[in-house]
Amino acid sequence: MQDFEYYTPTHVVFGKHAVERVGELITGQNGKKVLIHYGGGSAKRSGLLDRVTDALEQSGISYVMLGGVVPNPRLGLVREGIALCKREGVDFILAVGGGSVIDSSKAIAYGIANDGDVWDFYAKKRVPQACAPVGTILTIAAAGSEMSNSSVITNEDGWLKRGLSTELCRCKFAIMDPTLTYTLPAYQTASGAADVMMHTMERYFTQVDTLGLTDSIAESLLKSVMRDVTAALKNPEDYDARAGLMWASSLSHNGLTGCGTDGGDWSCHQLEHELSGKYDVAHGAGLCAVWSSWARTVMPANPARFAKFAIQVMGVQPGADDIETANRGIDAMEAFFQSIGMPVRINQMGIELTEEDMRELAYKCSFMDTRKIGRFVPLDKEAIYKVYQK
Ligand code: NZQ
Ligand code: ZN
Repeated sequence: MQDFEYYTPTHVVFGKHAVERVGELITGQNGKKVLIHYGGGSAKRSGLLDRVTDALEQSGISYVMLGGVVPNPRLGLVREGIALCKREGVDFILAVGGGSVIDSSKAIAYGIANDGDVWDFYAKKRVPQACAPVGTILTIAAAGSEMSNSSVITNEDGWLKRGLSTELCRCKFAIMDPTLTYTLPAYQTASGAADVMMHTMERYFTQVDTLGLTDSIAESLLKSVMRDVTAALKNPEDYDARAGLMWASSLSHNGLTGCGTDGGDWSCHQLEHELSGKYDVAHGAGLCAVWSSWARTVMPANPARFAKFAIQVMGVQPGADDIETANRGIDAMEAFFQSIGMPVRINQMGIELTEEDMRELAYKCSFMDTRKIGRFVPLDKEAIYKVYQK
């Protein structure tokens, strides 16, 4: 196993009445003027926004509001948010929504705490020195941004989707009420669960010796998510299943399932970010669409690791050798994704990639042919192209 540091400073408030704690939590962070940032309308329709504004008013906290964050959040709205916050003297950002709203909030928070163009940080031209405080009320179990150190933003100029990871942007608090996720469409529930699983699988598929405890946590988390998403799709108001998914969303991306590993592979995320940057697909669905192609490409480099996954997570019978067992596990994962309505091929998302499209995706994913992606097997531009093609 590898040495590691583990840092998760987010104060989690979990349960049915957590939302009403928001005023107290912001006051605890010295927030005086808040930006309430939200998405396309689900938080308004469910009455959540009214509950939030009531709670802030009761705590004597003033606020401004900015909605309209779309999945795969855009730089244009981030810039609008930065200008609004500067004009209004906002000192705390409250994200009410999912990963897209939280990531947009983190980008605004970087923008108001540093001079210059915020995109420079995502384009890796400069490193941010500060970040304004962000808190969240989570409405979907998926991206894990509520406890992660990341933010992913899409620049409409060239449709480049780029991530930025620093310890500065970790949410000060995360309010998690599983009942808020009852209104999710089935597709978003499934796509979110797939993303949760992929955050653990990206870390699990490593070539280095791992900590047995970390493997056990990862395997258990994956099995729990498979059980809970199946239950939540059957009964969207199954509280325990929703709670399991929500907590797994955070645990799968706050570093816990990576302790003692080399940090993970992350190829599938890189492959997917190009897809959702250009074709605006749901992130979790895009991950499912590329996973098995990636897995079949890299598995021969370490069949034993995939065989362990097959037996411990997918519960398959061992085959004659590790390769056969590994292939059974990949098939089983693919079948599971399909069982929850997720695509396992890019064309199942309604995208017919031409030769030229695949070359362009591979070019952008390799940062214009300047990098390889992944640690399990580093993939260059040509290898990336082949995964898309498969
Ligand atoms: O916009 P509204 O109307 O709220 O609708 C949203 C959106 O259409 C809807 N939704 C959310 N909560 C709902 C709800 N609908 C009904 N009831 C509710 N309670 O769900 C849709 C998807 O929302 P979004 O925030 O986009 O989902 P998710 O949490 O999956 O976030 C995806 C984004 O996060 C990034 C992805 O790349 C993508 O841009 N990621 C961020 C990460 C991070 N910061 O650590 C890591 C991830 O790997 C990921 O890359
Ligand atoms: Zn993800």
